[in-house]
Amino acid sequence: MLTNDHIGRRTLLAGLSAGAALAALPGRAAKVAFPKDFLWGAAISGHQTEGDNSNSDIWHLEQLSPGPFSEKSGKACDFLNLYAQDMDLASKLGFNAFRFSLEWSRIEPEEGRFDAKALDHYRRVAATCREKGLAPAISFNHFTTPLWFAKQGGWEVAGSGDKFARFCAAAVKAVGEFAHIATTLNEPNLGRLLRVILPPPILADMGTAMQGAATLAGSARFSAAQFGDQDAMLPNLLEGHRKGAAAIKAGPGSFPVGVSLAIVDDQAVGVGSQRDAVRSYLNDAWLDAAKADDFVGVQTYGRNRFDAKGIMHPPEGVELTQMGEEFYPQALGATVRYAHAVTGKPVYVTENGIATEDDTRRIAYIDTAVAALRDCVRDGVPVKGYLHWSFLDNYEWIFGYRPKFGLVAVDRTTQKRTPKPSAAYLGAIAKRNGAA
Ligand code: BGC
Repeated sequence: MLTNDHIGRRTLLAGLSAGAALAALPGRAAKVAFPKDFLWGAAISGHQTEGDNSNSDIWHLEQLSPGPFSEKSGKACDFLNLYAQDMDLASKLGFNAFRFSLEWSRIEPEEGRFDAKALDHYRRVAATCREKGLAPAISFNHFTTPLWFAKQGGWEVAGSGDKFARFCAAAVKAVGEFAHIATTLNEPNLGRLLRVILPPPILADMGTAMQGAATLAGSARFSAAQFGDQDAMLPNLLEGHRKGAAAIKAGPGSFPVGVSLAIVDDQAVGVGSQRDAVRSYLNDAWLDAAKADDFVGVQTYGRNRFDAKGIMHPPEGVELTQMGEEFYPQALGATVRYAHAVTGKPVYVTENGIATEDDTRRIAYIDTAVAALRDCVRDGVPVKGYLHWSFLDNYEWIFGYRPKFGLVAVDRTTQKRTPKPSAAYLGAIAKRNGAA
């Protein structure tokens, strides 16, 4: 397992061009320029914004009472109908890219039946994205699966990867000609990460929820991505990624394809730290898989520290986000370097953000995160885009609508959008291509 020290050295030895190496020397404060085709934008996902995603596993889980979800997603942000308006706003803010996902459960509502209207819808979403001057970063799956898939045992079942690849093959026919980049799965390593960070009683509740969901669905089994048996899922998720990526690359269209990973700035504290073992459990299989891809998608929210006993609480007195995590935007520099050093691949930051009611803290977060990226660029790390999470205040899964990740506020009654100062702030960074 690589340590941060190794990564620093490896990056310096392998990744630096002569010019960048000079610029990195003390006293040579050369101006750092982001690549001219750098993507600046924001991300959303289908279930969290579209509304009425009623044929999906998560919608089904939301109906459990008692259950793990604090509220139901309902109409969400009505992105299903308001996508053109939202993309128009993103474009006017100064962004040149927009990340959204396809809802498998709309496109393949019953196994093997592909819905022409849903495919046409996503074709229009992708086309509109282009028309608005935004490079579409398309996630073929963002956690949710069709109800039928979950009832079969979801990703725990051998052959599930083939089912996902079949979906990818159908979906790319609709959106491929418009895609700028694509990812297969969103954070397929999150299930493992949750097992590292969540207390055992919550994990036990997640298992109970699977039984309850099966009963509610009248099926023998039920498995949803973060909730089921992660060890059983891993080989199938890897196969789904590999075969899905191949199906997407078959076109139409010709664009880079990768996978987005949840990567935390894991830090070792003291002698015998468990950090390397945990990192290996979380990331090795996926970073290895990414070596065969065109890029690796990095999604970072902060850091975790590990001593010899395991994960540690945030340091005493530090600022916490609405998710109870330490405010630590500088994490992004370390995770981008790590993902690139291990895979040798270019990096797109496909998510990075903070849940807060205080938008001045979002601005501070963006500022530090972008500065960390600028340092990566200076050091020759091939980072090619920054997509902030999230464009809209949206449905934060089990936490409901309380956490505010958005650059743009959403009135839950009228669906009116109100850009926050942070939206203009990131838009201005985008317009000057990140120049400090
Ligand atoms: C997910 C998003 C989520 C965000 C903030 C990421 O793990 O991809 O769906 O809303 O983190 O928690």
